[in-house]
Amino acid sequence: MTLWEGRLGRQTAEEVMAYTASLGFDRRLAVHDLIGSRAHVRGLARSGLLAEEEAAILLAALDRVEAELASGDFVFQPGDEDIHTAVERRVTEIAGDVGAKLHTGRSRNDQVATDLRLYCRQALGEVAQAVVALMGVLAERAAEAGDAYLPGYTHLQRAQPVLLAHHLLAHAWAFDRDLERLVQTVDRLNVSPLGAGALAGSSLPLDPDGVAAELGFAGRFANSLDAVADRDFVAEALFDLALLGIHLSRLGEELVLWSSEEFGFAVLADEYATGSSMLPQKKNPDVAELARGKAGRLVGHLAGFLTTLKGLPLAYNRDLQEDKEPLFDAVDQTLLGLRAATGMLDSVAFQTSRMQQAADGPAAAAVDLAEWLVQRGMPFRQAHGVVGGLVRDSLERGVPLAELVQAHPALGAEALELLEPGVAVSRRSTPGGAGPGPVAAQLERFRERLALDRERVQRLAALDPKRLQGDPVGGGTPVAR
Ligand code: ARG
Repeated sequence: MTLWEGRLGRQTAEEVMAYTASLGFDRRLAVHDLIGSRAHVRGLARSGLLAEEEAAILLAALDRVEAELASGDFVFQPGDEDIHTAVERRVTEIAGDVGAKLHTGRSRNDQVATDLRLYCRQALGEVAQAVVALMGVLAERAAEAGDAYLPGYTHLQRAQPVLLAHHLLAHAWAFDRDLERLVQTVDRLNVSPLGAGALAGSSLPLDPDGVAAELGFAGRFANSLDAVADRDFVAEALFDLALLGIHLSRLGEELVLWSSEEFGFAVLADEYATGSSMLPQKKNPDVAELARGKAGRLVGHLAGFLTTLKGLPLAYNRDLQEDKEPLFDAVDQTLLGLRAATGMLDSVAFQTSRMQQAADGPAAAAVDLAEWLVQRGMPFRQAHGVVGGLVRDSLERGVPLAELVQAHPALGAEALELLEPGVAVSRRSTPGGAGPGPVAAQLERFRERLALDRERVQRLAALDPKRLQGDPVGGGTPVAR
């Protein structure tokens, strides 16, 4: 049985069902579909389109469907094209003629848009929570890093020493921007499409404002065509997750480098490393590598879905069904990646003596020597030339830089102190810079930000009190075909 058997005389071909059905993946919208249907039923009752008793019968049937889905007793039928069809079919089996009133004034077009916004709101809320957890770990590791320092790099060439805390917080600020983007995306998507019908609204006296309020939306759609055709929120969510994935990837790449024998800056905890099936000595950074690798997949989801949207005429087109799989996968992979990365960072042992050794190479203080000359009146370009010449001399003639500095008439013994271990980084004193003073201030500022971010995440969680993970609804018995 299909929803359109009144119009089309013959059974839909089996291969058409196989190609067009979305039940295999949109089953996870069951919980949101039920929430949306309950609000719709109460709206119909308020409008007088359903008698109170009829509404009560429908609500009871929806509860029963929820229980059947949760227990696995729900049996999907071959005609269940998607989760919306399956729920309506079962409600009608349970509630008979009253069940047939569930879809009054509603289309699957406004229904699926509503379900997906509810899903997205909740899923991005959970991602935001995981981002804040990672930010918390980065802040803790930064605080405990104290005055430890390592080489800062440009072009992956040692450039200037920076505090380890500064380096960790650099990643943390990127995640703070991710969090802000997620919150803004949720605020923008929090608009109810229900009441838009198939595309043009309805002749029935619906109550879209009341339904929107009941679902925790900030308001209802302004334009019914836009309400059913708009998937900007999916594209935005995919972008937010892709960029977040890229931040995880860049962090992952550094842990791959740092945990190599060549760098030796980090030792991963055994629980967050993997071994080799053949090489007994290996300890591999697979979590960090997959953080890098999965970013490609997330970017692919974004590019693929933008391509799906491009050129679609108004309003609903079946192409839009392609919104779900990339979105679900992006959410799943991001949650898994964030949790694994959080544990990896929480447990990694930073090899600070090795980092410092690498950062104490004599040339690390080159710009400090130049700035020392600037403070004594030499134009910077000239100072740059003097120190660059000394570095080249030192390399070419194999003479230690310190000796050349001491012997230089403009530098001498006083400037030699700059080459002492730890001195260069301690002089990085400008706001937002890499030395101890500004980093302490930065950590304070980051903690304030983190407290604010935690509040924002709680506000999102309050919109959807039930968690997605571990929520049994969305189960049920698979279709036998
Ligand atoms: N499964 C469909 C989707 O995900 C639901 C909407 C179907 N609407 C329609 N007119 N065929 O987009």
